[in-house]
Amino acid sequence: MKVGAVELPSPFAVAPMAGMTDSAFRRLVKRHGGCGLVVTEMVSSEGLVRGIDRTLEYAEYTEEERPISIQIFGGDPEKMAAAAQIVEGMGADIVDVNMGCPVPKIAKHNAGCSLMREPSHAASVIGAMTKAVKIPVTVKMRAGWNDRERNAPVLAKMVEDAGAAAVAVHGRTAEQSYSGFADWDLVAAVADQLTIPVFGSGDCVEPEQIVAKLRSGVEGVLVGRGVLRNPWILAQAQDLIAGRPKRDIQMSRRGQFLLDYIELLRHERVWDDGRSHDRWIVNKVRALGSYYTKGLDNGSHLRTAINTAQSLEQLRNLIADFFAVVTSEV
Ligand SMILES: Cc1cc2nc3c(=O)[nH]c(=O)nc-3n(C[C@H](O)[C@H](O)[C@H](O)COP(=O)(O)O)c2cc1C
Repeated sequence: MKVGAVELPSPFAVAPMAGMTDSAFRRLVKRHGGCGLVVTEMVSSEGLVRGIDRTLEYAEYTEEERPISIQIFGGDPEKMAAAAQIVEGMGADIVDVNMGCPVPKIAKHNAGCSLMREPSHAASVIGAMTKAVKIPVTVKMRAGWNDRERNAPVLAKMVEDAGAAAVAVHGRTAEQSYSGFADWDLVAAVADQLTIPVFGSGDCVEPEQIVAKLRSGVEGVLVGRGVLRNPWILAQAQDLIAGRPKRDIQMSRRGQFLLDYIELLRHERVWDDGRSHDRWIVNKVRALGSYYTKGLDNGSHLRTAINTAQSLEQLRNLIADFFAVVTSEV
């Protein structure tokens, strides 16, 4: 499939997830196959325009992640256009706009999902951005703000008319946050009425579900928590699409993934301002661990162990033990 002129090698993508989908994680998922697109964690347009270091860190990516989409949030058309130009200048393939974040800190600034409550304004943000850059501008939205305002079909059409190159819909409302289920009928209705590609998002935790959703009418599927649980899920979905049995992932490979993640993080975001880098890595592995351990035999035991480990050494050892990673792999 294509987003604007950008060719995606697979219709399956890693959904943007703040705090989770850092460059190291994205690289590892790509290396395991089946992944057509990765999106950064959301980045503040305000922070980009003001050149704030921490904001720029969130937008960092490496060449092996291409095609790469940088997701930005904000509500001011001029600032969003300026931020899109910065994203383009950073060499990203796609700039994505967050219209789905329900967190009050973001939503109260007329950004994230609150943009869905003002569709004309949201479309003017997209219009300003598409005029300012050559790379495709895409939008990620929810079903709507709440059950009375499920306006994704209307807004999606408006942003298409404003020049968006693709739309992704997470089939829950902001009010739902992550409760209940994603409404894939609504996602399919959006896909049905747009000319540009539509990605659906929500509740795919097994590769079979990804394949079923792809066949429900969307052009692509964004997978979030399912990838955090099983980074091979996109490769397995591709196996199924190709008519092959899905690949079996041995426990030792699952353990190796966490060890590789730690190793990549060791070379990332190294600060000289006194912040503890090891502590940052431990916290990152804890965050991933809360998803990664779901569905594993004895997963809760591993989760507790990860949450109490105090050093990288302890973390590495307990992961190697739990997953029986052979020593030469460590
Ligand atoms: C921890 C976490 C962080 C997220 N952060 C973002 C974000 O920064 N931008 C965004 O558009 N969506 C974000 N999402 C929503 C996901 O992209 C996705 O649409 C949603 O989780 C539903 O898909 P899933 O059921 O496959 O996880 C986040 C979800 C989670 C669980």
